[in-house]
Amino acid sequence: MRIPEKLGQSLQKLGMNANIYEGRTRKCMLSRKPMSLEKVPWCGCAYYVPDDFDRKDAFIFDPVSLVPCLALEPRSGDKILDMCAAPGTKTFILSFMTHNEAHITANDISRFRVKRLSWVVNKYGLSADVINKSGRKIDGEFDKILLDAPCSGEGMVNKRDKIFEHWSEKRIKLLAKKQKKLVLHAFEILKKGGTLVYSTCTFGPEENEDVIDTLLKKNKDAELDGIDVEINHANGLTSWEGKEYDPRLERCMRIYPFHNNTGGFFVAKIRKVYSAPSK
Ligand SMILES: C[S@@+](CC[C@H](N)C(=O)[O-])C[C@H]1O[C@@H](n2cnc3c(N)ncnc32)[C@H](O)[C@@H]1O
Repeated sequence: MRIPEKLGQSLQKLGMNANIYEGRTRKCMLSRKPMSLEKVPWCGCAYYVPDDFDRKDAFIFDPVSLVPCLALEPRSGDKILDMCAAPGTKTFILSFMTHNEAHITANDISRFRVKRLSWVVNKYGLSADVINKSGRKIDGEFDKILLDAPCSGEGMVNKRDKIFEHWSEKRIKLLAKKQKKLVLHAFEILKKGGTLVYSTCTFGPEENEDVIDTLLKKNKDAELDGIDVEINHANGLTSWEGKEYDPRLERCMRIYPFHNNTGGFFVAKIRKVYSAPSK
């Protein structure tokens, strides 16, 4: 299948080309016991599994998924919201990282996808309660929120045909609108001093920097933090197509498939500060 022209142009401006879709990502698993497998460099407990790995009950995933979870710095006892959680990869990672001692609310709007999420939570005994509603309808207050947002999926190198089939500029505009609403609501239900991580598996700044720039403009008590994960990446963009973004956006991570042989990802880490800085 041919790559949509506009997507090709956008990739080129970002320093990539359609070749990224020829690659195959490596997969990994988590283990507290040392394994005789190659370690994932950016996470002490993660090991690459070979293609012919006999997975049995192991939970296998693209190691780039570790990054937003590491950025969130989950701790036992934290009240965590995984706002768009299905099928459950990051709920699994967050629960593993907190030794099943965090209070995770794992939500997804899709009734179909929530079935898989519930299955993962039950099978692996995760410390998560599953709910099924729009993220915008969730209330309460959370210490930490992961918003792994619905996106156009341009970074999913193993699923290119599916991505190209659905890709259009109109769809990206609709997704960006949805992402902005979700991120603004997530920030609203975040405790003061709490952390919100926004991530997507797509490259377009419309679904990434533009969304976070809107959040920063509307909330003076939102601060963008650097992300302390040792993975090869490019920094967030501070301008795109003539539009200037908040210079702090440089602190975000853009992970391209050729950086680490993973899918592509964008990650932003936002903190709700106690008092907005005075001008
Ligand atoms: C990128 S996927 C999430 C992947 C998941 N975090 C994981 O690691 O397995 C995005 C999810 O957002 C869900 N979604 C879309 N709109 C939503 C909304 N308004 N509220 C909550 N979830 C939503 C989709 O059903 C989809 O499962």
